[in-house]
Amino acid sequence: MFGNNNSVTVFDFGSKNSKMIQTHFKDKTIVVDFYEIVPTPEDAIKDGKIADYNKLVNIMTTMVKKAKGKGNDNRLVLSSSEVVIRSFDLPKMEYGDLKEAVKFEMAVLLPEKIEHYVVDCSVSEEFMKINDEGNEVKMYQVQAVAVSKRIVNDYLDAMNKVGAKISVVDVQSNCEIKLFTSGAKYFVDAQGNTADEKNVAIIDFGHQKTSVTILEDNKVFLHRVLHTGGRDLTKIISEALDLPLDEAENWKHNNDFAFLRKNAMNEVESILYDEITKVFHDITMEIYQVIEFFISMSKRKKLDSIYLIGGGSLIPGIGEYIQQYINVHTEVVSKLSNVNFSKLEKSSDLAFLSDCLGAAIRRG
Ligand SMILES: Nc1ncnc2c1ncn2[C@@H]1O[C@H](COP(=O)(O)OP(=O)(O)OP(=O)(O)O)[C@@H](O)[C@H]1O
Ligand SMILES: [Mg+2]
Repeated sequence: MFGNNNSVTVFDFGSKNSKMIQTHFKDKTIVVDFYEIVPTPEDAIKDGKIADYNKLVNIMTTMVKKAKGKGNDNRLVLSSSEVVIRSFDLPKMEYGDLKEAVKFEMAVLLPEKIEHYVVDCSVSEEFMKINDEGNEVKMYQVQAVAVSKRIVNDYLDAMNKVGAKISVVDVQSNCEIKLFTSGAKYFVDAQGNTADEKNVAIIDFGHQKTSVTILEDNKVFLHRVLHTGGRDLTKIISEALDLPLDEAENWKHNNDFAFLRKNAMNEVESILYDEITKVFHDITMEIYQVIEFFISMSKRKKLDSIYLIGGGSLIPGIGEYIQQYINVHTEVVSKLSNVNFSKLEKSSDLAFLSDCLGAAIRRG
């Protein structure tokens, strides 16, 4: 029900689209009572940060008004290349001490003083280790996140201004990890089979950026934000076809991208599509490099699967293209299990909402 204690509202402001979902849980099922995907004003968001406060407040006002009923649990998804995520192995200790130890470890990795960051951590694994004296000691594998206070406070201030108090700020990789590793098993392949791989890459194809989150044994191994995305394709289409950006954007949404899969083309076609294929190739190449790095560092020297989410995952054939190029099984996330929409306008809307759905899941 709307606005009951159980309901969670999640906001995700992307550079192209702003998303909002209102959900409640029925056992493990995420029931989406209501959702909205609306265009973000141009240049309001850059690399996940507020770049134009007034423009963003406008869209926030629209989103908050659309939210039906006022729940107390409003959450925000944050995704920026400035979010720092690391894993540390530390001796088992109380949470308060653990947080201090994590801050100490993080301090050397961050460009500014640690006081300027919000730091959070959670234990992903407990294990035993033999120390230098030959004794067995209990250890924690800790997942730590640091985000500049300025980035977080900008959002909290803006949301406060429009009358929605944010209770939880969740980073994108954490949302994806919760959605993938949760006992409820939300990820399924196109045939509806539950995803049970342990080493996976979840790739969010956004507009300005493409985020790669890699899990090893179901725990985060790395989160890398590439500064290329759907926008680069739109730009090149606009140049190649001499179209204004909005028309190029429409062209992109309605093209079948068959040129990525076939060789035989007439001359005009091939000149046109060469450019587009090149951008595609460049983005895939960057992803390939991140994945190669993971494979070389991982214990099993293997990535089991790649899952694609985000608006860019709607490009026809993108899954096959990546699978062929990187030689790793690739699924475009076109359905989720244990997620019930009261009303899903278009099945393609799901591509935009995975991060919000992950944020709705409680930790642990
Ligand atoms: N049907 C479609 N076919 C191809 N591309 C699409 C389609 N629908 C949306 N896109 C592209 O998806 C991108 C927007 O996706 P999304 O909303 O996930 O990005 P965002 O979160 O706003 O961006 P970012 O995370 O980079 O700030 C745009 O580049 C858009 O052109
Ligand atoms: Mg996004």
